[in-house]
Amino acid sequence: MTSFPHSRPRRLRSYAWTRALVREHTLGPADLIWPIFVHEGEDFEPITSMPGVVRYPLAKIGEAAKLADDLGIPAIALFPKINPALKTNDGEEAANADNLVCRAIAALKKAAPEVGVMADVALDPFTTTGQDGIVRDGVVVNDDSVDMLVRQALVQTKAGCDIIAPSDMMDGRILAIREALERDGHTDTLIMAYAAKYASAFYGPFRDAVGSGGALKGDKKTYQMDPANGEEALREIALDLDEGADMIMVKPGMPYLDVVARAHDSINAPLFAYQVSGEYAMIMAAAQNGWMDERAAMLESLIAFKRAGCAGILSYFAPNAAKILA
Ligand code: PBG
Repeated sequence: MTSFPHSRPRRLRSYAWTRALVREHTLGPADLIWPIFVHEGEDFEPITSMPGVVRYPLAKIGEAAKLADDLGIPAIALFPKINPALKTNDGEEAANADNLVCRAIAALKKAAPEVGVMADVALDPFTTTGQDGIVRDGVVVNDDSVDMLVRQALVQTKAGCDIIAPSDMMDGRILAIREALERDGHTDTLIMAYAAKYASAFYGPFRDAVGSGGALKGDKKTYQMDPANGEEALREIALDLDEGADMIMVKPGMPYLDVVARAHDSINAPLFAYQVSGEYAMIMAAAQNGWMDERAAMLESLIAFKRAGCAGILSYFAPNAAKILA
């Protein structure tokens, strides 16, 4: 029994130097992956629901890779907004070796070969339904979707993609992609599995950004996870590691930090979280109204992921945060 006032936790908080000395976690540019959008147009296009985020024209995408390189951001995650005329029910354009994503991957690698390029594997930017898989009779079918996703992963890999990131949540896709990569000789291609990806309202601004939101009828609840479930996330993560994933992701981020912390306790693989578009939009909207301090809220939200056990964070704040942290 300590009697008052022998135990005074405030001693360690008294000065900047004491706080620095006992700080448990740090955040640096190397903790960040920067998601960027590319479109077919000629100009930079602002995304209304994501203040400060733009769609890059393909001709300028190399600038993003150079900026990441200058700021010490290790990797970029790429998302396309394709010409709507190219969308089909089955999303075949995803498997076109000369599609917008593949051209952008090549341009990024050319501009800054040392920056890792990660590409989403999912059909939603390419389908008329806005679904991540192929719809037959109103149902997103699993195995036909996986076949298309494998083809998508292969063209992206051949274009120079370093990290294949399946975000589609079909069953068995990590194994199918891993086997196809091995068969094709791509033994060093990394897979970061969107392993615990929830059916979330926080993806709203992203769907504007890639132009899949208007098309989407219904929701993605038959394949993305129920926000009520935590145990299930651990099963999904274990499966994806078993199927050959090198890295694991939880998504969204901040509303699911409990899942991140549980994953960190239960697995032995690099763990990432995606601070998604809606999380970014919330912080920016509050900041623009003068209701929160943008810089402080940004850095606090990012260090929270490190505290919860993440090796790194996908965040639209990446360049702004890296500028401060460099
Ligand atoms: C596509 C995909 C989505 C996001 C990343 N990949 C949206 C979705 O599943 O509907 C969301 C990213 C964000 O909101 O920032 N499958």
